[in-house]
Amino acid sequence: MDIDEISSNLETPYYLYSENLIKENINSYMKHATKHTLFCYSVKANSNLSILKLIASMGMGFDVVSKGELYRVMKAGADSKKIVYSGVGKRKDEIKFALECGILCFNVESEGELHAINEQASLMECVANVSIRVNPDVAVETHPYISTGLKENKFGIPYKDALEIYLKASQLKSLNITGVDFHIGSQITTIEPYLDSLKSIKSLIAELEKKGISISHIDVGGGLGIKYQDENIINKDFFISTIVSELKDLNIMILFEPGRSIVGDCGILVSRVQYVKESDEKSFLILDASMSELIRPPLYNAHHNITAVHRTDAVKKNYDVVGPVCESADFLGKNRLMNVNVSDLVIIEDVGAYGFVLSSNYNTRPKPAEYIISNGNINEIRSADTLDQILANEL
Ligand SMILES: Cc1ncc(COP(=O)(O)O)c(C=O)c1O
Repeated sequence: MDIDEISSNLETPYYLYSENLIKENINSYMKHATKHTLFCYSVKANSNLSILKLIASMGMGFDVVSKGELYRVMKAGADSKKIVYSGVGKRKDEIKFALECGILCFNVESEGELHAINEQASLMECVANVSIRVNPDVAVETHPYISTGLKENKFGIPYKDALEIYLKASQLKSLNITGVDFHIGSQITTIEPYLDSLKSIKSLIAELEKKGISISHIDVGGGLGIKYQDENIINKDFFISTIVSELKDLNIMILFEPGRSIVGDCGILVSRVQYVKESDEKSFLILDASMSELIRPPLYNAHHNITAVHRTDAVKKNYDVVGPVCESADFLGKNRLMNVNVSDLVIIEDVGAYGFVLSSNYNTRPKPAEYIISNGNINEIRSADTLDQILANEL
């Protein structure tokens, strides 16, 4: 669609998603749905209610990491029996809420948490399903901030301690051990780390069987990378069928927790050039979008293509594309060859995942609006903050 025309009625910056692309990505997982697979969208990637509602309506479950995310998915019409709850720091009230909702399973990340869930379930006279997140200690080639499966990461239980923790869990009366879980990182572009992890997890399951603990599901987490630039990514069909075939001899349920690969390439951030600033050293394009709306470039050194909506006859130049926020880290792209003029529109690509959800009100900037293109129509799915909303909770 014509972004210029759309933008004549909308205030920049704004997020714009494509419903068709999201559906395509969902379908590429859901076409592999059998009684042995469950796909749980990882809500942290993009938690807009309308998007969650779309995802729930197509039969997906959810992976949540907070009471807030659980509250959202329940509002969006999720089937609670398809919800897994991950995260290293679940509070008692969060555990209670999850038990009240009747979720499928807790992905447990420490021994302390096992006891907390057991106590809460016992108080509520129910039994909680648990799966233990095991850290298989595999390296993935991704940014260190999104690698989670190494010994030094805070996530999961070290592989060497897993058997002992399972044995302890099996003694707790209000827990029902159902699974083994791992999640080794995000933006992963090769299958090998998954296969290495599965090897370790399979031998753990064999050890557990010997001790009389039988496992009914393996959760392989999320992490599938998308193409931001020129990465070779893992084909989704290949990924799912390889994992399914690796585990077919176990006759077990397999859970997947994709986030980025469902929504990442389905969203853009539309922004307008406010100023062009030249110095001896550099040329800057100063946009009306900033790190407050999209923090991935400074946070993860993430690359997002930035394209001008109208390539004008302006001279092509190398620009650092920056925002108005008072931080030197406030950049959206560095050294980008572009021909643009003041007040031209630019598009920052592939921001559907970890885009809006990581936005903030830093510098008292209103969070931007979100729109989705559905059947050729532009629908607002979140309005921009007003200044009074930003101040509302302050005394
Ligand atoms: C436990 C867990 N599952 C799933 C995901 C989703 O990962 P991705 O968006 O890379 O698919 C994450 C993200 O970090 C996670 O921490």
